[in-house]
Amino acid sequence: MQTINRLDDLRKAVDALKIGGKTVALVPTMGALHEGHLALVREARARADHVIASIFVNPRQFGPNEDLDAYPRRLATDAALLEAEGVALLWAPTVDQMYPQGYATNISVSGVSEVACGAARPGHFDGVATVVCKLFNQVRPDIALFGEKDWQQLAIIRRMARDLDLTQPHANAIIGIPTVREPSGLAMSSRNQYLTDAERDSAAGLSAAMLHAIAAINAGADIGDTLARLNAQILAAGFVSVDYADVREADTLETITTFSGQPARLLVAARIGNARLIDNMPV
Ligand code: PAF
Repeated sequence: MQTINRLDDLRKAVDALKIGGKTVALVPTMGALHEGHLALVREARARADHVIASIFVNPRQFGPNEDLDAYPRRLATDAALLEAEGVALLWAPTVDQMYPQGYATNISVSGVSEVACGAARPGHFDGVATVVCKLFNQVRPDIALFGEKDWQQLAIIRRMARDLDLTQPHANAIIGIPTVREPSGLAMSSRNQYLTDAERDSAAGLSAAMLHAIAAINAGADIGDTLARLNAQILAAGFVSVDYADVREADTLETITTFSGQPARLLVAARIGNARLIDNMPV
């Protein structure tokens, strides 16, 4: 596996991988890799001739009081994991390569970026859309894979690809991979490292409460009543606060107040200890 951190080197290496019409899959990450990331890489390998993974802790998607400095960085360990999974190229740019002196462009996807995590983390999804658009232009992959754990991020990236007429990758080639969970049900996340053992046990209550809520909605319970019960259950499990717990239309993320079988997701963000955890499931 080659590890590259300069854009001119990346372009040459990508061109070499594409010789003979070989296809390339991109798996964008911020590192601190876990089984969820490795599931993306495995699926990418099954779908393309070569896999390129990126590791870049993107400062533009962290708010002023967020965990940019504390975010786990362990490039050597991550590189070994990616190499063992058969990744051809690791793109690990520096901040200066990604945002050179004078950088001034921002991509903002309105609507779908403004609710849920977008309301709680102003500017976060502009940072995500901007860096993902740059990664797409840098690598020009045939397909790109993202975890469904960040459902809103996936919806925003698809919206951006449609709106900007992207072709490398095309919006339909942006592939979501189901969330990988611990045996307890806790969705895997690089931020789970912030949890103590006791908090990790409590955090497992989130997915259990969400499954109850989904069962209730599917059995015809009122969405407002169900979400109120869900909030109470999440707090009873040991979370200190619930940022949001909403049922939303799967693509637009518009709020759903009456469920009639339309594509829908239950999305939750809640705080426990020093961590803000997010999770989502289909209704
Ligand atoms: O999901 C992530 O790890 C990041 O938001 C992404 C897509 C790599 C952009 O920085």
